Amino acid sequence: MPLFSDLKRHLIVDSEVNSLGNELQAQRFVERDVFLTPRLWGVGSTAPYGHRGDFRMLDEIIAAHGGEARFARDAYLALDKPGRDSVIAFLRSLIIEAPND
Ligand code: HEM
Repeated sequence: MPLFSDLKRHLIVDSEVNSLGNELQAQRFVERDVFLTPRLWGVGSTAPYGHRGDFRMLDEIIAAHGGEARFARDAYLALDKPGRDSVIAFLRSLIIEAPND
């Protein structure tokens, strides 16, 4: 399964979409609104989401992408309901099964 991450840090906040960056805790040497892109492996069963774990729904965390990720959030929100549902269905399918041995 692909990783679905670039493993890089991104500014995830802008003036309109900023709920992921209102951080109280400082990160060493890194701005408070810049975060590593997590891999989406297993994301179908790893709620809650975001570095604070305060988003219960996949739809909510996607809508919270601002800054450098704003284009992806806007493209998602511009989809019709069936389109958004299929993105969520795809993400829910990314589940890592425990090895059965
Ligand atoms: C449609 C495209 C995208 C989808 C479906 C998506 C989905 C997600 C999901 C589900 C999470 C939460 C993961 C978790 O908490 O385990 C997440 C977090 C994150 N995403 Fe995306 N993402 C997309 C595009 C992007 C882009 C283009 C960027 C960067 C330019 C980006 C950067 C990030 C970052 C930095 C986080 C971590 C936020 C935090 O720590 O609170 N994402 N994304």
